[in-house]
Amino acid sequence: MVITLSDDTISNFCKKVKVQSVQSIEYKPFLRFHIANCLNQETNNTLGDFLLNTIKDRQTGAALLQCQSLDSETLNDISFIDFNILLSTAISHLIGVPNLDSMSGKFYARFSVKNEDNSDSYLRQGNRRMELHTDGTYVKEHTDWVIMQKILEVDVEGGESLLLHVDDWQNLDKFYNHELAKEDIQWSSPPSKNIGYKVFHPVFLEDHIAGEARMSFIDQFAEPLNIDQGLYLYEIGESLESETNTFGVGLCEGSMLIINNYCWLHGRDKFIAKKNLHRELLRQRGAFIENALTKQKTT
Ligand SMILES: [Fe+2]
Repeated sequence: MVITLSDDTISNFCKKVKVQSVQSIEYKPFLRFHIANCLNQETNNTLGDFLLNTIKDRQTGAALLQCQSLDSETLNDISFIDFNILLSTAISHLIGVPNLDSMSGKFYARFSVKNEDNSDSYLRQGNRRMELHTDGTYVKEHTDWVIMQKILEVDVEGGESLLLHVDDWQNLDKFYNHELAKEDIQWSSPPSKNIGYKVFHPVFLEDHIAGEARMSFIDQFAEPLNIDQGLYLYEIGESLESETNTFGVGLCEGSMLIINNYCWLHGRDKFIAKKNLHRELLRQRGAFIENALTKQKTT
């Protein structure tokens, strides 16, 4: 599903929100809903419902949102980076409430991939493929959706976003019907994530509808406590990485993927090494309203 916001929509949205600074929406959470409403009004109050239905519907569950063009006239002198933060914030607040990102201390996080990296996870390492996973495996909050927005790209070749719908995974039945599918696994995270606890949940979360698998999985942060769990997780990782139904999506600056985090796995292909490689993403992830109200995972 590709959604393109027209120049008129973008321009009118920018006129309405340009009095709001990025700092003001960071400090005042209600302003985030205000700018969401400004964007929705420019689509005759259709965009929010359309996005929510698309992301909640398992048959779709994902959208690529892009802008017709993003010249300075359309942006009404809002800087490109600020516009991206305002736009993704409007989108996130049309589909729910973002979780606090413990890595950035804000409701959104920006992170870069460069040619060299010395961090403690694969998030920023451009020279390798980032394996398919879901987000939020190691936090207590619901992570119903993820928004990944490209905000900067310099000297980039490769690095496409990788996507796989759980139902398109050819070995799904083998792992979904496995005796460990619903057994709690321990999940943790490296120091850079700033999460001081471990969580326990199965790879396959409780079905909302019988037979419709919902996954919460990432290879790096699972901590198996016996050889059976270890082999189960290892085989899932091997199967996912050899899955031929996975496909790549190239994003241009200013566009974003909005995905249902429990039925779409995502990853990133490796970049071609280039000295000046620099790609920056903005990420928001959060819960649908009804789940944000419960605050804690029940699994
Ligand atoms: Fe991710």
